[in-house]
Amino acid sequence: MEQPVDPTITLETCGPVSCCDVLPPAAADGACPCGANNNCPDPNELQGDIFVFPKKVEAFIFFNIKDILAFKEALRNFEPTSAADVVNNLKCISEAKCDAKDGEVPLLPIVQQQIGFNRTGLDLLGLSEKTGEDAFDRNNNPLLEQYHSLVIITACDSDGLEKAVKAFLELFNGAIDNVLRVDGKRRPGKLEKHEHFGFRDGISQPAMRGLTCPLPGQLEVDAGVILVGYAGDPLFDKRPEWARGGTFMVYRRWEQDVEGFNNYLAFNGKRWREFVPPVPLEPGETLTDEQGAELFGARLFGRFKSGAPLAITPVFDNPQLAEDKYSNNNFDYTAPGTLENSEKYCPFTSHIRKVNPRNPNSGLSIKEIEAAAIVRTSIAYGDELPDPNPRGLQFVCYQSSPRAGFYDAFDRFAMNENFPPCPPKKHGVDGIMGSMNVPKLGIVCSHDPLSALPQHFITLRAGEDFFVPSIPTLKYVAQMTTMCCCC
Ligand code: HEM
Repeated sequence: MEQPVDPTITLETCGPVSCCDVLPPAAADGACPCGANNNCPDPNELQGDIFVFPKKVEAFIFFNIKDILAFKEALRNFEPTSAADVVNNLKCISEAKCDAKDGEVPLLPIVQQQIGFNRTGLDLLGLSEKTGEDAFDRNNNPLLEQYHSLVIITACDSDGLEKAVKAFLELFNGAIDNVLRVDGKRRPGKLEKHEHFGFRDGISQPAMRGLTCPLPGQLEVDAGVILVGYAGDPLFDKRPEWARGGTFMVYRRWEQDVEGFNNYLAFNGKRWREFVPPVPLEPGETLTDEQGAELFGARLFGRFKSGAPLAITPVFDNPQLAEDKYSNNNFDYTAPGTLENSEKYCPFTSHIRKVNPRNPNSGLSIKEIEAAAIVRTSIAYGDELPDPNPRGLQFVCYQSSPRAGFYDAFDRFAMNENFPPCPPKKHGVDGIMGSMNVPKLGIVCSHDPLSALPQHFITLRAGEDFFVPSIPTLKYVAQMTTMCCCC
């Protein structure tokens, strides 16, 4: 079964087809919604993963380029999925829902694929000009894996995925080596939209002005915050021509200690009187230990497992609110009865508040908040407990500048105890990322004053940053026969 799609909303009405999918309002008729200057990205030219799609299974294939000419020849026959294709696929799903008899929706044989390159990969292809991103261009981050390229392939089921991966490997046979495949998949049944700690993911995404339409409360950003070379790109003037319409993909593989996390919530849940927000409860109303554990988890994330935001429902879960796409993002962190940036309802350290403070009175202007926006298209990996193998999140995000997007959200916001700057005080680090362990660097963060239990619930297992070129740039490099001076 596909993710629920709202069949009543069409492209023409400029609406999303599901709570987390976003659609270009003008892609269908080709008109540019950005106004007279026509300076807006063409969805036919963009690789499509920036438009969130309800993925079932996904293969991440990392590799090195072994034979440049053979690689380029294969690249000529590689068909990346465009953003316009993604819109079309979403539309097909929506139509299939409308036509479904007895609620039986057929699985559509949709396959989508995308390709990106790290700095060495770009050099090998002859795209050796600097992108303007210092860290990416230096290519010496010790955390990173140093694969030249990453192809991601998504399909409606595992058979479809196997076929598509086989076709890809046959196409590039002889041109690539050092291949690593890591699969992601949705969690089973009702948990399909949830990450492994049990929290629904992918609710809040930025809408790109002129490309995607915002739902109430959704952060709107200039397309250049996500796409290189458009208004909103902080390095707009410094980009090489071939980079326009591309985007940077940050990939991180986080292993999650689900058992440890659950024990941690259960241990602290009993102490709910110490952290329950100062809001009046109904007479005689109290929390069970289980509800205390739910609330404790919600205070780490900023949302209950259902997705209901603490900023609206600060004590008890509200699954109906979580399901309502017109409300589940429609909040800031101003609690009733307070004028200042308050943590009355939601702690400053909760994950979603750290990475997107929403309120201008947090000490950041709205433009600064927009500049740090990222589109996330992560997917879970691994089986459910009690399977003994690792499980976690293949985290993927897109932005025109990793420095302004992922790295600022991570270093300047999440891991900075003093963030947000208003009110000025030591708030602590992000409730989720603060429990991070990075074996390669030996850095271990730890934060919670409440508990003596071990708190390293997420461990960074791998990571790499890739540039995802526009489709015209891919075609151009595939045709280019001269190689760069360094090859
Ligand atoms: C194991 C690691 C992680 C887990 C389990 C996780 C999980 C979640 C969950 C459950 C949400 C709430 C759903 C939503 O609002 O869409 C969320 C939101 C978010 N996460 Fe993460 N996340 C992880 C790592 C990261 C990292 C490394 C970043 C970036 C530095 C990040 C950035 C965001 C952003 C920007 C939001 C949306 C906040 C908003 O707009 O309100 N996450 N994450």
